[in-house]
Amino acid sequence: MADTVKIAPSILSADFARLGEEVRAIDAAGCDYVHVDVMDGHFVPNISLGPVVVEAIRPHTAKPLDTHLMIAPAEPYLEAFAKAGSDIITVHAEAGPHLHRGLQVIRSLGKKAGVSLNPSTPASAAANVLDQVDLILVMTVNPGFGGQAFIAEQVAKIRAIREMIADRPIELEVDGGINPDNAGAVVAAGADVLVAGSAVFGGDDYAAAIGALRAAVS
Ligand code: DX5
Ligand code: ZN
Repeated sequence: MADTVKIAPSILSADFARLGEEVRAIDAAGCDYVHVDVMDGHFVPNISLGPVVVEAIRPHTAKPLDTHLMIAPAEPYLEAFAKAGSDIITVHAEAGPHLHRGLQVIRSLGKKAGVSLNPSTPASAAANVLDQVDLILVMTVNPGFGGQAFIAEQVAKIRAIREMIADRPIELEVDGGINPDNAGAVVAAGADVLVAGSAVFGGDDYAAAIGALRAAVS
């Protein structure tokens, strides 16, 4: 599993004034996905970016744009994020009453569908949508800001979801406070995609930072 772990730097921690350049830099540094955090100031207490920014960065990388929607409701915006060039669109289980339908809409737009769970949401919230998702995203911080401390109690949930996934073709992504000190534990619990914002963009050498995460899980 460790050999196939993917690294998804979160551009929330990038320099927004040079976003195209930053995306090219993480691409060149060997990232697997580009993680795009979308916040609405309603579902989470922060506002980040919308579909026009996804569209603007799209030409700067051929790697999958992993779009994490921290917005409620999400459904009215799914088509816009799909058209803007997202490859994976993840919605939160807590963001509305019709998770199943939202996931169906994402797939009908030709995109991979993800469901994300806040720290207080049990693993069982994903149990009835396993056939509708390509990715499950476990939040290891309360969403809204980069640079927060990893919530270690979530490791048990990662393990439970890995068991729930069994042999289905579903990626298990973790997001929040991931760094070389905790990456080994989350991968041992079953994660196979690591989001990292401050751990990658916090220094000048993005390739070294991505390499340190890979080394920590190998
Ligand atoms: C939190 C976002 C994360 C965050 C990760 O709301 O979903 O993707 O930017 O940043 P770090 O790795 O700094 O916690
Ligand atoms: Zn995120």
